[in-house]
Amino acid sequence: MENFDEVVKEIAAAASPEALEAIRVQVLGRRGSLTLAMRELGALDPEQRRKAGAALNVAKDRVTAALTEATARLGRSALEERLAGERADVTLPLSFDATGRIHPISQTIDEIVAIFGEMGFAVAEGPHIEEDFYNFTALNIPPEHPARQEHDTFYLPDRPDGARLALRTHTSPVQIRTMQAQEPPIRIIVPGRTFRCDHDATHSPMFHQVEGLVVDRTTQMGHLKGCLIEFLRAFFGLDDLPVRFRPSYFPFTEPSAEVDIGCSRKGGELKIGAGGDWLEILGSGMVHPQVLKNCGIDPAEYQGFAFGMGIERVAMLKYGIPDVRAFYDSDLRWLRHYGFLPLDIPSLVRGPLS
Ligand code: PHE
Repeated sequence: MENFDEVVKEIAAAASPEALEAIRVQVLGRRGSLTLAMRELGALDPEQRRKAGAALNVAKDRVTAALTEATARLGRSALEERLAGERADVTLPLSFDATGRIHPISQTIDEIVAIFGEMGFAVAEGPHIEEDFYNFTALNIPPEHPARQEHDTFYLPDRPDGARLALRTHTSPVQIRTMQAQEPPIRIIVPGRTFRCDHDATHSPMFHQVEGLVVDRTTQMGHLKGCLIEFLRAFFGLDDLPVRFRPSYFPFTEPSAEVDIGCSRKGGELKIGAGGDWLEILGSGMVHPQVLKNCGIDPAEYQGFAFGMGIERVAMLKYGIPDVRAFYDSDLRWLRHYGFLPLDIPSLVRGPLS
């Protein structure tokens, strides 16, 4: 009988899947040595047949196991070879002729996060589909409040349990979610998508806001003013940018202030900076005591300030983009013109953001 030890050794040494297949055919193929030996068993007398048959079965198991093992080994080394060949050096710098651009909204959010990040704010997020409670009720906007109509809300079909879901009309519901989940001190900004049923050159049904919320024992109006003046001057890159706080009303803040920045409109051209004119830029105020209570925070112990700002609006002002609708047209010419190179990473340390 053939020495199958040799065969097992040959299999273990096979250098390619082709060599392995040749050995398999030689031994286990239709005319393979083991197959033929099995066939010859019939000519033996019963006692010899039993012995030789058992030995051949053992040999067949060994050969099969060796083949399986070698197939795995050759497969592994083939994969290793391919991986080595396809290796990419991810530490290489990006090529400067990259044609892709960072969308102005992404860039503006990164700039805003960089500035507030320096001031110690963390970034929070919340769902786009929101419960009535978080979008309105907990923010001190009761069911029949006129502010609900002003928000031009997109409602989802009523759920069987009667709960009404809506696309969030502002980022303020994340104030509630954060205060419910986290003990003060709180210092967050919330950049994100918001939705209102409104569409013209300055309104898009989907747009972005950034919310800010600070809650601590000694938080007061001076902090709100200092923080927003600092932010606006850094964002627009103008150290002397005039900033004005004008009394206003929001159900969830008391007192409330709308914030204007200085501009000039000489010759019909809008220019940000000292110029004798004003431009409304964001809403803000001290968190209403009822809103703190709604979140289980004691207003006798804690106070907070909050603000909300439209991201498209500040991006349009900073980068001279005339029509909000173009942000979402995916027009490559527009993106090449207004977009940013991947290496234009906003940072306060590196220099001016503009
Ligand atoms: N949520 C308000 C809006 O969308 C903005 C705002 C936020 C005002 C926080 C005050 C405080 O108009």
